[in-house]
Amino acid sequence: MRWFARTLSLAATLAVALGALTASAQTGSSGDSRVPLPTIESARAGTTCIADPATMRRDHPGMLKHQRDETVHGGIRGATASLKGCIDCHASTKTGSVAAAPGDFCQSCHSYAAVKIDCFECHSAKPATSVARKK
Ligand code: HEC
Ligand code: HEC
Ligand code: HEC
Repeated sequence: MRWFARTLSLAATLAVALGALTASAQTGSSGDSRVPLPTIESARAGTTCIADPATMRRDHPGMLKHQRDETVHGGIRGATASLKGCIDCHASTKTGSVAAAPGDFCQSCHSYAAVKIDCFECHSAKPATSVARKK
């Protein structure tokens, strides 16, 4: 419950941050130019995300959170939004992680938007294969 309350207040705060991001994108120059900040590392080459980038940017917290509640409390497995899946495709080629360095995929955006997630206290931020290979 404490986690849930904190998540809600964070989500509210960050909805404001996201609104600011969107607004600056709309007032920026038109054409092919991308949202100026932050710099986001590319996903593994030759893959496609589980949804289009705009949907992912907007909806990924809900996708993951819903999944978390169902998995931990209901024991449901195998739905679309897997955290392991995100990490397999989005781990940095430099650090092998999504959250070890400021430029890593999840971290780059979250520090820009001042989002703090506790997920990697329990979950590995690196693909399982790279951990397994060490043994
Ligand atoms: C207190 C420990 C803990 C924290 C913190 C935590 N999880 Fe989990 N999570 C678990 C456990 C336990 C499972 C079920 C076992 C498993 O599948 O690894 C799980 C499973 C999941 C799954 C389904 C399995 C998978 O890998 O896709 C997702 C998605 C998920 N968590 C997302 C998150 C997200 C997002 C956060 C941060 C907002 C988070 N979790 C934070 C313990 C935690
Ligand atoms: C099979 C590989 C794969 C998986 C799994 C995957 N992604 Fe992606 N993701 C990509 C690719 C590739 C892109 C670049 C856009 C595209 O081609 O779809 C991307 C784009 C994104 C973007 C937009 C980034 C930007 O530049 O604005 C976000 C956000 C995102 N993914 C989050 C996630 C999250 C969160 C998960 C897990 C729930 C996830 N992705 C799972 C491959 C993947
Ligand atoms: C394109 C930028 C971007 C990328 C890349 C990104 N996020 Fe986020 N994320 C955000 C923003 C902005 C928020 C807060 C706004 C919101 O809640 O809708 C957020 C919120 C979250 C939340 C909810 C936090 C809370 O407690 O409210 C989770 C969980 C999360 N992201 C997981 C991830 C994971 C895991 C990755 C990497 C696989 C990732 N995100 C990559 C921008 C991003």
